[in-house]
Amino acid sequence: MSAPLLEVARLQAGYGDTQVLFNVAIIIKPGEVVTLMGRNGMGKTTTIRTIMGLLKATDGDVWVEGAPVSGLPAYAVAQKGLGLVPEGRQVFPTLTVEENLIATAANRVGGKAAWTLPSVYQFFPRLRERRGNLGSQLSGGEQQMLAIGRALMTNPKLLILDEATEGLAPIIRSEIWECLRSLKQAGQSILIVDKNVSVLEKLADHHVILEKGRTVWMGSSQDLSENPDLKERYLGA
Ligand SMILES: Nc1ncnc2c1ncn2[C@@H]1O[C@H](COP(=O)(O)OP(=O)(O)OP(=O)(O)O)[C@@H](O)[C@H]1O
Ligand SMILES: [Mg+2]
Repeated sequence: MSAPLLEVARLQAGYGDTQVLFNVAIIIKPGEVVTLMGRNGMGKTTTIRTIMGLLKATDGDVWVEGAPVSGLPAYAVAQKGLGLVPEGRQVFPTLTVEENLIATAANRVGGKAAWTLPSVYQFFPRLRERRGNLGSQLSGGEQQMLAIGRALMTNPKLLILDEATEGLAPIIRSEIWECLRSLKQAGQSILIVDKNVSVLEKLADHHVILEKGRTVWMGSSQDLSENPDLKERYLGA
């Protein structure tokens, strides 16, 4: 059996003397869409920052395709094939849309689909229309499309979205979900953090729930939809 695309085991991390992650476990197989859910402040962003090497793990392991990446600098983790769409999008405000897209392309890792500027523009026609606009001139939805496009330009084996649709108008949210749906159909593996349980139940294969820095539940969409207690207890849904 081949190694999972991403495996996280017993992950611990924190800020200064404050421990935030106590025992996080995640497994993602190639082609899967997996969510990381939990209420505010439970450690989702901290988990993602630790996986990406932006925050140092104090214990536990992260493997990408069976190879350990714990302790590697962030650029080296990205080069293993993890493409991040960070919380708050973080597009470069003083670069144009096109410059934002090109800026990360140097970090290409050669994943499944070979994304190029034309293919990103084909996928997000709005970005082509706005190609000469500065990052700061974009709407929230356009910024999110740009952040996704920028991550795709690295040809990630695993696309990671921290708050995929937070702060976006309902119609724009639907567009982002539609885009993630077509990426999944094309075989892209995705780890999604978002609070939209009802959409994620349909989109994702598996779910991981965090409570106070611990993985407290893992299961399929069917398991989750059949467990309203779980949603009420851990997701406030
Ligand atoms: N830079 C930081 N320094 C100190 N503590 C932090 C820092 N960032 C987050 N924390 C704390 O770590 C805990 C987990 O935060 P984290 O941002 O990982 O949660 P989250 O699940 O992503 O929440 P949200 O749903 O609000 O995005 C919280 O108690 C938070 O206050
Ligand atoms: Mg967060």
